[in-house]
Amino acid sequence: METIVKLEDKLGRTTRSSISQAKPILLPDMEEAAIDALRNDKFVGGENVAKFEEEFARFIGAKYAVALSSGTAALDFIFMALRVQGQKVVTTTWSFIASANSIMHAGGQPVFADISETDYSLDTSQVKFHLEKGAKGILPVHIYGQPVDYDSLQDLGDRYHVPIVEDACQAHGARFKGRYVGSLGIAAAFSFYPSKNMTVLGDGGMVTTNDESIAKQVSKIRDSGRTSQYEHDILGYTARLNTVNAAIGRVQLKHLKEWNERRRSIANSYFRKLANLNSMIGLPPGPTSDVEPVFHQFVIRIKNRDELKGYLHEKGIQCNVHYPIPIHLQPLYINLFGFKEGMFPRSELLAKECLSLPMHPFLSDEDVDYVSEEIISFFRRISS
Ligand SMILES: Cc1ncc(COP(=O)(O)O)c(C=O)c1O
Repeated sequence: METIVKLEDKLGRTTRSSISQAKPILLPDMEEAAIDALRNDKFVGGENVAKFEEEFARFIGAKYAVALSSGTAALDFIFMALRVQGQKVVTTTWSFIASANSIMHAGGQPVFADISETDYSLDTSQVKFHLEKGAKGILPVHIYGQPVDYDSLQDLGDRYHVPIVEDACQAHGARFKGRYVGSLGIAAAFSFYPSKNMTVLGDGGMVTTNDESIAKQVSKIRDSGRTSQYEHDILGYTARLNTVNAAIGRVQLKHLKEWNERRRSIANSYFRKLANLNSMIGLPPGPTSDVEPVFHQFVIRIKNRDELKGYLHEKGIQCNVHYPIPIHLQPLYINLFGFKEGMFPRSELLAKECLSLPMHPFLSDEDVDYVSEEIISFFRRISS
């Protein structure tokens, strides 16, 4: 699939079509699987759903996987299964809002830690502070596909006897010390929203866990809390993954390793080509001997972020800001808890400086060269 097409503009000059920042992938094998599921499987609760769960659990290295209608439902139902009602759970201010919301959906209260000094992992001293004050769980987020420093969180979880729930919604296939994220904590949530490293080409999510009682409870909550067709003993929802989406997810899962490999190779090129700008931009954490990221996003930091974003936009390069507002400064959280600017300064600064460069497996080497060269040109222009 070509992402750069030479076009003629109105004056007959050759221009590039834009390079998209993210790209959901629809290939013929996915279309065939979808049509086959629509024609031959049950619309709801079909064989494709059970197979997708089995295959995803095997891939992650977890005993159970439960397919859901979204990543948000996956997080919500884990916290409902863990019965966090009335309790505090420590999480990050640096994520999509669903991470913290899920604790409230289950009747708990999110309390926040800032990101760490060196990467997007949680500041463990702030996590410890909340655990000492009685928080009953930890929700780290493997943001941008970068696994958090799990060992230090696990030490805290063990010391204070609290469970760790992983938000792996951006990290399908990332590994920490050789283990896939989603197999590290008591349970984990994945999202299959179209921009993710793998998608069901619609909304979708998955819970992975080794705990049979969590798997059973999540399955029940997603299915109206039923014990049999018309008997219900808990308050449930209708939040199952549709069969046609599961069929697409199964095909996407087969491509995931190869796509993640391509993302890593693109990230390597960005690291190499932008290395000389290191005093002017911040590059993302990247791989270490313990950590294998999957680069859901490749996020750089730069003081004059909006200027660079505008410049790249003019050059046909689409970039995004993930995220312009940390969770504690969302109007909802200000209204509910009275958070103020300055409370979590590292996340607040990142919100002003972060820029997500184009990152998806169908970027060509030429695209990556072009993006990198235009970033270098931008700095040449502002320093001349
Ligand atoms: C870190 C994180 N958590 C949770 C979610 C929620 O997933 P969904 O959009 O599938 O409900 C997302 C999705 O964007 C996410 O990026």
